[in-house]
Formats: sequence, C-alpha cells, structure tokens
Amino acid sequence: MTETLPEPTPKKLFIKTYGCQMNVYDSDRMADALAPHGYQPAASMEEADLVVLNTCHIREKASEKVFSELGRLRELRDERRAGGQDLMIGVAGCVAQAEGDEIVRRAPAVDLVFGPQSYHRLPELIARAHNGAKVVETEFPPEDKFAHLPPAKREVTVKRGLTAFLTVQEGCDKFCSFCVVPYTRGAETSRPVEQVLAEARNLAEAGVRELTLLGQNVNAYHGLDARGRSVGLGELCFRLAEIEGIARIRYTTSHPLDMTDELIAAHRELDALMPYLHLPVQSGSDRILKAMNRRHTAEQYLDVIARIRAARPDMALSGDFIVGFPGETEADFAATLEIARLTGYASAFTFKYSIRPGTPGAELPDQIEEAVKIERLARLNAQIAQQTRDFAQSCVGRVLPVLIEKPGRNPGQVGGRSPYLQAVHMPGPERLIGTIMPVEIVAVGNNSLSGKIVTDAEPISASVIESSAVAAHIA
Ligand code: 5AD
Ligand code: SF4
Repeated sequence: MTETLPEPTPKKLFIKTYGCQMNVYDSDRMADALAPHGYQPAASMEEADLVVLNTCHIREKASEKVFSELGRLRELRDERRAGGQDLMIGVAGCVAQAEGDEIVRRAPAVDLVFGPQSYHRLPELIARAHNGAKVVETEFPPEDKFAHLPPAKREVTVKRGLTAFLTVQEGCDKFCSFCVVPYTRGAETSRPVEQVLAEARNLAEAGVRELTLLGQNVNAYHGLDARGRSVGLGELCFRLAEIEGIARIRYTTSHPLDMTDELIAAHRELDALMPYLHLPVQSGSDRILKAMNRRHTAEQYLDVIARIRAARPDMALSGDFIVGFPGETEADFAATLEIARLTGYASAFTFKYSIRPGTPGAELPDQIEEAVKIERLARLNAQIAQQTRDFAQSCVGRVLPVLIEKPGRNPGQVGGRSPYLQAVHMPGPERLIGTIMPVEIVAVGNNSLSGKIVTDAEPISASVIESSAVAAHIA
C-alpha cells in the first residue's frame, strides 16, 4: 500500500522583484521551489503569508528602495499581528548577499535573508524561520543550486507566456572597478549543456517560442557537454535551436572581449539567433575605460562591432553607459557621445555613476559632482533618444518577422516583438498568437511600432502550442 502524504496547507507568496532580468528569472524559480510546499502566488502583499523582496544592489538607489519597502512591510506585519495573524518577510538577491546581517539589524522585522546561491534551500530556510530563528544565509554553497531547483509545472510555464528567460551563466570575473556583481554573484560559472537543454525542452514543450539566455557575462559561457567538452555560447545556441518549438534565441548581457569568432559566426549562420545585441561599452574614453578596468579601448570596441556587422549587417545594437565616473572630464564625456554616435545604437541604458562601497571605484579621487552627472546624463539621453527614434523610423516600410505574443490593447489587435526587440501592435486575430508573421511596419509610436500583417502570407513559423495553451495566454 502506498502512503499518501498529506496535502500541504495552502499559503500565499508574494515576490517583489527589483533590478535585472536574472532577478526576474530567479523570482520564478523561487516560486517554483515553494509551489510543492503549498505556496500559491498572491495577487498583492496584503494577501500574502510570505513576502520576499528580490533585491538589486547595482546602484545606491536600487538598494535604498529595499529599506523603504521593508518599513512598509513592518507596518503590514504589525497590523496582521494585531489581528492574530502573521506575515513572514524575506530578503533575497544582491542586497541580501552584500548586506547580510546588517539587514536584520536595520530592519528587525525581517525573518530571513538569503543570497542568490541559496534559492534551492528556501523551503528549509523558511522552516527554520518558522521556528523563530532569524535566518541569514549568504554562503556560496558548494552544491549546484540549479541541480536542486525543481522545474516549473507545465501550466505555470504556459501562464508565463511565449517568451522565457533561461539563466545559463552566473557571476563575473571581470571586476570592472564600478561594479558589485563579482562580489554579490560570485565567480563566473556556466551551467552544464545538458541541464540547459533539459530546461529549454520543458519550456518549449509548454509553448515557449523565444528564449533569452541570461548571464552576468553570458557570452563568456563555457558549459561542459555530456562528454566533458567545453562548449561556447555559439554552439549552445545551435543546440537550443534544434529543439522543436524554439524559434528565437537572444542572450544578455555580454562583455566586448568575450565576443568570440565562434559566437560572431553563429550570428551569421543561425537564423534563430536574433539580430539584436546588448553589448555595453560604459564609456568612449580610453582613459576612463582603463580606470573602469574594462580591459579594452574604444577602438577595440568599434572593431568588435564592425566584425559583428560584417557577419550580420542588420544587427541592432544596445548598450549601457555610465556618466560621471571619477575623473571624467568634458573631453572624456565627448568621447562617450562620439562612440554612441559611431556605434549607432538602436537603444541604450544610461546611468549616473553611483559609488558602491567595497568596489575600487569608491576609493578613487576626483568623484564628480552630482550636478555635472545630471547635466551629462541629460545630454547623453537626448542623443540616445534621437538615435532610438532614427532606428525605429528606419524600420517603417520594412516587412519584419514578428512573433505574435498576446492580444493587443484594443479588441481585434495583437501585440508582438520584432527581431530587434521592439514592441509591435497590429490588427489581427488572436488565433495567430504563437506564430511568427511577416508584418509591414507602418508607423512609429512612443514606445512601440504599428504594423500591418502582410495579408495572404503564410506564417514564417507556425505555432506549436495547443489551443489550450493559447487560451491560457489569452486569459
Ligand atoms: N554606477 C552606475 N551604473 C552602474 N552599473 C553597474 N555598476 C554601476 C555603478 N556603480 C551599470 C553598468 C552595467 C549596468 C548593468 O549597470 O552600465 O552595465
Ligand atoms: Fe559588472 Fe559586467 Fe563588469 Fe562583470 S563585466 S564586473 S557584471 S559590469
């Protein structure tokens, strides 16, 4: 006779995610790890038994947001307790890793603090916190967390949509002098090829059509295959593209020095690899690049871009910039404007330098005044905004393959993404969701393009998901 385990009592979980796409992925994996223990998603913090803040430490503002949210959560917990109930509060992510015990000291309402390498141990950590202990877990455990994290249930993946993140690499060994990542996410590691393929097959089987491979330094990926051979990101993309249903692959975020010939060749040869690349340069000044410990010059960056464009002439580029790094002069900043112009970004993210304690940049003399940072940021933003508009405008009149992802804002409309990651809205029936259709771009909106499905055209790639999966996406 088989013994049946009692059903776990249903509890409600709310995860608030800050920061990058890897945190979005991690939050889903935490939810997946807790689902077998009876935790269902809560619609709001007010409904939850457990609230986890999945935090970001990359800039000061991101870190400080966490403490103000913890203040509000303490009030919520106090109200609950006054009503004879309780609320458990957890802090995960990079602030948890960087601040550890300090979080419990500053915000004593917090029950558990755990870093990104401990997510597979979450059920056990919660059990310890239930027993009244304050749990602070910021070790880098020797076991592979990915091997212990359960996959999402099929219906959960279906609900999450046609595009999915998949972390293939974590951590960073580059030690750019402004950046906390090597300290919060640890040394660079790559997940084994078979593990990545298995997760991708699960996603594809639940209707996912587009994968975005994630890593702090994703193009440095070098996972081992079943025979113990080291495989680079280009080869991994080829293997992933063989999976039925996977029509599009993207990856982010990359370092210019890790754009290998193999990866660039993959952009030439693999149609599934989208012609959109996020390749941060941070600054256009060699002096500042050196002080940032980026290990390349402006010319070397432009040379990498030229090689990529030779392989894939329609490659759209995106980047990250930091203005006001210590010692940055007006001439250095002019070089940043110039490299942005020469690269011709389709989009870019721009930041004011933010001192991160413990990084070499924090110790540098010649910190730049806030007013100067604000003024330079505004100038860079104006230029990037113009470049983004120019790029969007250059798409008008072109027919682009669009992955139809969801119903549009208005009835009779659908929404999707171009190969260049632009949102595209167009008239069309919902049964097209999951297909890739040729769409003529007719106009540029604020943050999206308007298009017209080329009538009489066959889908470029048909949907492979069942109607029930489509229905769930639409619901
Ligand atoms: N200050 C400002 N921006 C930063 N970034 C990383 N660290 C800092 C910092 N200390 C930016 C970089 C990076 C992006 C993820 O965040 O541009 O590429
Ligand atoms: Fe941070 Fe990226 Fe530099 Fe690594 S390569 S230290 S993640 S900015």
